[in-house]
Amino acid sequence: MTPRRLLPVLALLAAPPAAAQPKPDPADYLLPNDTLMTPFRDRVPILFVTRNQPGWDALPAFWTDATEDAVDPATGQKVTRKAVKIKVPMGLTTAPPVPPENPLTVEKWVLGKKLYYDKILSTDGTVSCASCHDPAKGFADGRKSSTGISGKLGPINSPTVFNAAYNKLQFWDGRAFTLEDQSQGPVGNALEMFGGKADPWEEAVARIRANPEYVKAFLAVFGHAPTRDAAAKAIAAYERTVLLGTGVQDRAEAAMRKRVVEEETGKFELKAADYAATLKAAFAAKDPALADLGLDPAKDAGKTDEVAARVLNGRTLFFNKARCSNCHTGDTYTDGGFHNLGVGATKDGELPLGEFGRYTRLPTGHKDPNLVGAFKTPGLRGLLQTAPYMHSGDEKTLEQVVDFYDRGGNVNPYLDEKMRDTAAEAAYLRNVAEGKPVDPAVRTFGPAKKPIIPLRLNLTPQEKADLVLFLKALNGDPLDPLVADPARFPGK
Ligand code: HEC
Ligand code: HEC
Repeated sequence: MTPRRLLPVLALLAAPPAAAQPKPDPADYLLPNDTLMTPFRDRVPILFVTRNQPGWDALPAFWTDATEDAVDPATGQKVTRKAVKIKVPMGLTTAPPVPPENPLTVEKWVLGKKLYYDKILSTDGTVSCASCHDPAKGFADGRKSSTGISGKLGPINSPTVFNAAYNKLQFWDGRAFTLEDQSQGPVGNALEMFGGKADPWEEAVARIRANPEYVKAFLAVFGHAPTRDAAAKAIAAYERTVLLGTGVQDRAEAAMRKRVVEEETGKFELKAADYAATLKAAFAAKDPALADLGLDPAKDAGKTDEVAARVLNGRTLFFNKARCSNCHTGDTYTDGGFHNLGVGATKDGELPLGEFGRYTRLPTGHKDPNLVGAFKTPGLRGLLQTAPYMHSGDEKTLEQVVDFYDRGGNVNPYLDEKMRDTAAEAAYLRNVAEGKPVDPAVRTFGPAKKPIIPLRLNLTPQEKADLVLFLKALNGDPLDPLVADPARFPGK
C-alpha cells in the first residue's frame, strides 16, 4: 500500500460509526469467491456473430436470446445454458476483441451499462460517462472540448465510443491500451469526474459499496465486493457492444458482392449500380438512412442515379486522388496509427508543449520525433453525429475538414510525411544546393532550414462535395435501443 493510499484508510478507520462506513478496499486484489457468483450454468454469455459467420443472416435482431452448449470448468459437466447473440453490424467483419480475463456476460453488461450512465462515479454526483459520451450525441458531447465536474472546461474534444472496442489504443494520444484501462481515467481526472482530495477510486469504490444494489450485482458477476478493477471491466463490457455499422456504404458493398456472385465475373468492384440498388431498397423501405445523404424518403427517389454516381465518385476520391485511405483504412476507417496533421499548430507553425500528442506518451528510450504533434487517426463511422471534428474540435463541418486536407493540413516542422509533397521538397533542396532561385512562399524550419511543403489535393468544388457525401454514406444505422437507451435493459 502506498502512503497516498494509506491516508484515506486511516481517515476511515478513525471515523465513527465504523459499521456504517464501507470497508476500504485493501487494494484491488480481492479474489473471486465462486460460491457468491452466479453459477456457471446460469451465466449468460454474450457472443458476437459477424456477417461472414454462419447464422448471421438468420439473426432477427441485434440482440437475440439463444442457447449454447458449454462445459462447466468446475465440474467438467456439459451444460446447455442461455446465451445472447449479437448481430455485429455490416461492415464490421471481425468481432470486437474481448480480453480473456473479462468474459462478456449479460449480467456484467447490465452492471457496466448502469455504471456508465450513473453519476455515482463523480465526486459530487453530477457527471457520468454519458455526460461526455451521450448516445443522443453520437456517444460524444457535441462540444469543441468537454465540460466536466463543476463546469470545468477540458482541453480536448471528446471522441465517440462508437466502435472504440476496435481501437488499437485508446485516447487521442494512445495512452491507454484497452477499454478497461481507459475507463479508469475519467474517475480520477480533475477536469472530468474527480473533485475530491484523496484517492479518487478509493472514494468512488466506497460510494458504490454503500449501494446495496451494486454490491449484490458485483458479488454475482465477480464473486467479490465492488472494486476498481471490476468496475473498469463492467464498463468496458458495455462499451464493447456500442457498435456502429450498416451504413449506405456497407449495404452497397453487400449489394456488390451479391451482384458479382450472380454475374460470376469474380470482379469485386463497386459500381454506381450497387449504390443505386441500395438506395432503391432504402426508398422502398422509407429508410431514415436516406436522410444521411440529404435525401427525402418521400420525394427524392428520382435522384437515385445521380446520388449513386456521386457517392461512388466520393469513394474513388477517398481511395485515390484525396489519399484519405493512406491513414483511414479497414473496417472502421483507421490505421490505428498517429499522425501530425498540424491540427494543434499555431499560424507560425509552432507546436505548443501541450500539443506534442503521441510523442509525450512514448516511453523514455522510444521517443520518435516523427510523432511530435501526432494524434490518433479516428475512425470515420458516425461522423454525422459526432461534430465538431479533430482532437481540438476546430473543424465544425465535414466541408471544413475536407478543405483542411485540400490545403495539406497546417504547416509545422513535424507535419506527417503522408501530408507532404516530398517531391517538391526534394526539388526545393536541389535548387538551394545549386544556388537556383526558390519559391519564397515555402516555409522552412530549424537551423537546417528544412522545407515543409504541404501536399495540396487540388479538389474541385464538385469533388469536395462528393467526398463529403461519401463520408456521410459511412454514417451507419441507429443503434439498438437496448444499447443506446439508458433506461432499457434485457427482459424489460
Ligand atoms: C468530462 C467529460 C468526460 C467524461 C465524464 C468521460 N469522458 Fe471519456 N473522454 C473524454 C475526452 C475529452 C476524451 C479524450 C481525452 C484524450 O484523448 O486525452 C475521452 C476519451 C474516451 C475514450 C477513448 C476513445 C478513443 O477513441 O480514444 C473512451 C472509450 C471514453 N472516453 C470512455 C469514457 C468512459 C467509460 C467514461 C466514464 C467512466 C468517460 N469516458 C468519462 C471526455 C469525457
Ligand atoms: C496522414 C494520415 C491521414 C490522412 C492522409 C487523412 N487523415 Fe483524416 N485524420 C487523421 C488524423 C491523425 C486525424 C486526427 C488529427 C488530429 O485531431 O490531430 C484525422 C481526422 C479526421 C477527421 C475527424 C474525425 C473526428 O472524429 O474528429 C475526418 C472527418 C477525417 N480525418 C477525414 C479524412 C479525409 C476525408 C481524408 C482525405 C481527404 C483524410 N482524413 C486523410 C489522419 C489522416
